[in-house]
Amino acid sequence: MSDHNDSKLVAKNGTLLGWFDKRYPLVSTWNVHVGEYYAPKNFNFWYFFGSLALIVLVNQIVTGIWLTMSYKPSAAEAFASVEYIMRDVEWGWLIRYMHSTGASAFFLVVYLHMMRGMLYGSYKEPRELVWLIGMMLFLLLMAEAFMGYLLPWGQMSYWGAQVIISLFGAIPLIGPDLALWVRGDFVISDVTLNRFFALHVIALPLVLVVLVFMHIVALHQVGSNNPDGVEIKKYKNDRGLPMDGIPFHPYYSVKDSMGAVFFMLLFAIVMFYAPEGGGYFIEAPNFEPANPLKTPDHIAPVWYFTPFYAILRAIPDKFLGVVAMGGAIAVLFAMPWLDRCKVKSIRYRGLSFKILLTILVVSFVILGWLGTQPATPELTKLAQIFTALYFMFFLILPFTSVNEKTKPVPERVT
Ligand code: HEM
Repeated sequence: MSDHNDSKLVAKNGTLLGWFDKRYPLVSTWNVHVGEYYAPKNFNFWYFFGSLALIVLVNQIVTGIWLTMSYKPSAAEAFASVEYIMRDVEWGWLIRYMHSTGASAFFLVVYLHMMRGMLYGSYKEPRELVWLIGMMLFLLLMAEAFMGYLLPWGQMSYWGAQVIISLFGAIPLIGPDLALWVRGDFVISDVTLNRFFALHVIALPLVLVVLVFMHIVALHQVGSNNPDGVEIKKYKNDRGLPMDGIPFHPYYSVKDSMGAVFFMLLFAIVMFYAPEGGGYFIEAPNFEPANPLKTPDHIAPVWYFTPFYAILRAIPDKFLGVVAMGGAIAVLFAMPWLDRCKVKSIRYRGLSFKILLTILVVSFVILGWLGTQPATPELTKLAQIFTALYFMFFLILPFTSVNEKTKPVPERVT
């Protein structure tokens, strides 16, 4: 199959493509990154989420542009302009839901994408940079979602931002000035809304798109990992092509399209039958306009932030809570160096890694649930236990992974 690559594009003289290709490296770029990009032939379910993340990114940008056409970034008008989009703008409700629920879809897809990396050791050499750029994308995505949530200027927009920005205030010495600088005012105000709008609509998306580009360029420099965690570049045929690889196009372009159709079907079902996800995608208090004089009974972020929010609340000291929350994200950057096992894929790794990873995932999910609940003393105790278990993964891994009892890794993909 990999011996004959019909997907290699050739620019003939006298054709429009030939004209273009003399002036722009169109054909060579296509061939390097698509037609002749050899991907391992054993990709499974977990390998859909990178292309799905791209699709959701495009969805966010396109629906975001359309929302901006009717949205008013001012404290006096923002809430009403969103209601106007929902009721009066043609298809406005759909555009708004595609964007707000699209944010939840983005995190779901990215969390599963990261999970794949953990399962198959995709962060290990030579893909450390792919992982690091991915982590930067994750951070940026969180900032993007946080700022976007202020824009409808509902109760949870206002009070959520209030809680999170006040965290900066807990940093010793510079904290209060920093919080003031971020808000641009002594309270969350029109000024804050305006700058969040600027950052959400143009600054962060620009960086996001550039980073996604770099993420893929970095991946194509070293080649994709796969569920067996073997390097397909090791065994090449007489034409210098990886024997366990197949051209991305048409094999994976078709497979990814299948995944995309299935994903869009699911997304459409959510869109038409449960666009607010029972309060998990858009929280109920956000259907009330922001009121600086009335704090909601229970302030909680959207589900994708709740694991980190639970870690923040688990620590009684505010500053240490902020440190723990930041640390929970920061440790993920260090994965390529914390995991010292030579074997990449979980298929051939020892029991210790399997147990540790299970504990990490279970803790993350339970913390996510705890973050949606009011912080009663009992639940806070639970949050402390699972915060400890979450960090335990990263503390223990460097020691257990060195001498892990691994299974023999096959030479070629299975
Ligand atoms: C906007 C968000 C992101 C987009 C659009 C994106 C896109 C992609 C695409 C298209 C691929 C190649 C297809 C695949 O292997 O699934 C990929 C691979 C990869 N991504 Fe991402 N990604 C994003 C975020 C992340 C994050 C947050 C991480 C982890 C911290 C990450 C880590 C990786 C790794 C390690 C690979 C190589 C996987 C392998 O070869 O096994 N990505 N990404």
